Amino acid sequence: MTPGVRPLVAGNWKMNGLKASLGEIVAMRKAAEAGAVGEAELVVCPPATLISDAAALLAGGPVALGGQDCHPRGSGPHTGDISASMLKDAGASHVIVGHSERRDAYGETDALARAKAEAAGAEGLIAIVCVGETRAEREAGGAVAVVSGQIRGSLPPLSDPRRLVVAYEPVWAIGTGLTPTAEDVAEMHAAIRGLLGEIYGPAGATMRILYGGSVKPANAAELLGLANVDGALVGGASLKAADFLGIAGVCRRG
Ligand code: PGA
Repeated sequence: MTPGVRPLVAGNWKMNGLKASLGEIVAMRKAAEAGAVGEAELVVCPPATLISDAAALLAGGPVALGGQDCHPRGSGPHTGDISASMLKDAGASHVIVGHSERRDAYGETDALARAKAEAAGAEGLIAIVCVGETRAEREAGGAVAVVSGQIRGSLPPLSDPRRLVVAYEPVWAIGTGLTPTAEDVAEMHAAIRGLLGEIYGPAGATMRILYGGSVKPANAAELLGLANVDGALVGGASLKAADFLGIAGVCRRG
């Protein structure tokens, strides 16, 4: 945790969730209102089809809503895409950009992630910008260099840093049950903190850096207790309110 920073726990539902799953979102709101989530700020990112319904269920409450991706343009001939302004209109305040699954499946680049983060910021959304190395890159000893390159390429240097969150997600840890050692997470987050200072100056010291990749209630306390780990981006364990709340519940303000 970083001194003075309120932790953020974001749930990425990926391509999961039908209307029947909205009850999990209601349970998240109730628990947050009952003060059962420690000092964390919560964001849930359901599939786009559920955002409007979720917005109605979360309105006026402590749980925020995010999209999982946005197009860099505001509107136009982009079949299947969703713009930042559409997410905002539907009730979202956050959006994930540059997730490794999109980088991998659709060849999304750092430059595209940056353009999406800029578009999100222009609409007043908070962009959660994802970075992370592959297993081969880590085994070759290049993890910090790879992630540093992604940070430099994916973060818009002129943006308001309060509208940016970084999520460090080792690709090999996503959905696998594997996590890096505490030392490796701390090393990477310290390197990212240094880069944020270079790019954004003093504001970089309090930008949130989330860890993502197989975060579960059982490992959350260790991971979220590390220096410069300001919360989590949670995939599988965010689909059930009980697990998501179990992760958020260990968070303490830095
Ligand atoms: P996971 O996914 O928690 O299921 O590993 C994390 C993510 O992809 O954001």
